[in-house]
Amino acid sequence: MNNIQNESIEFISIQEQLDQFVLDAKKNTTSGATASYIPALKKANPEHLGICLISSQGTFLKSGDTDHCFTLQSISKVFSFIFACHTRGIDEVLQYVDVEPTGDAFNSIFRLELSHPGRPFNPMINAGAITVASLLPGHSPLDKVEALLSFFEKMIGRKPSINMDVFHSEWQTANRNRALAYWLKETGFLLGGVEDAMEVYLKLCSIEVNIVELAQMGLILAHDGLHPYTNEQIFSMEIASLAKTLMLTCGMYDYSGRFAAFVGIPAKSGVSGGIMAAIPPSARVTNNRFACWGVGLYGPAIDKHGNSTAGVALLKRLSQEWDLRLI
Ligand code: DON
Repeated sequence: MNNIQNESIEFISIQEQLDQFVLDAKKNTTSGATASYIPALKKANPEHLGICLISSQGTFLKSGDTDHCFTLQSISKVFSFIFACHTRGIDEVLQYVDVEPTGDAFNSIFRLELSHPGRPFNPMINAGAITVASLLPGHSPLDKVEALLSFFEKMIGRKPSINMDVFHSEWQTANRNRALAYWLKETGFLLGGVEDAMEVYLKLCSIEVNIVELAQMGLILAHDGLHPYTNEQIFSMEIASLAKTLMLTCGMYDYSGRFAAFVGIPAKSGVSGGIMAAIPPSARVTNNRFACWGVGLYGPAIDKHGNSTAGVALLKRLSQEWDLRLI
């Protein structure tokens, strides 16, 4: 049998396996609910679950409910951090935000006061991401958001739009985020004004994508910042490595330790139900040890940590069955 036949048989069986995993994981949608604290997100259908995987060598897999657009929410935190490091340098950004996991809820406030001098623990929690939003290049909130949208364009081939419904919905209910921002301003870890930082942070959370685009972003991260198809180095390997470390240690909030233990791949969730993962080149799926993979997933029923219930179950299954763990 020649290689092409081998590959297509393998591809079919991988697609069939993926379809079965998605079907099985869908059962977990009932143990979660759509985010109720952001009114516009509550309207999503909690039964949906869809996934896309793209490899650096061009293999493309999709399964489940794959046609929906959704907002990045906290997944944007990975890219605002990357872009801040890309434009200001890692050392300067780390003067404003640390890289320590908290084990606390994503919007927790109490450690900001406990830890002297108040530097947010990491850029994957709201406090750290609000600080990072204030560090982005540009004078006005519009400049900062536009700069990041152009950065996304390099990765996914189009400038994504902002879901203004979601933005307004959050803008009106963001009391806790404002409290975080005022505290950061008080302690000197926010550049510019509180409302400006809020606008940038919430607009970045409201960037809308689909699972294919999310998988493309994950793939560029897995590929250490190098776009595997355009061959452009979008951000440095050093930044990619730091971002993936933060995803592994803090990307799934106060479930990050368990996710690292039982799934073992760098991932980042958002309360819209999206999860982006970056699977390193040692992965053994399709027997190609040198391919790395980007994963984009959407399952809007989330758990108390803010992670998609069916999405976590699906990644756990994929990781176990296809041996995707880092360690
Ligand atoms: O600021 C917030 O609360 C939301 N815009 C983002 C939070 C989020 O996605 C946490 N994720 N799991």
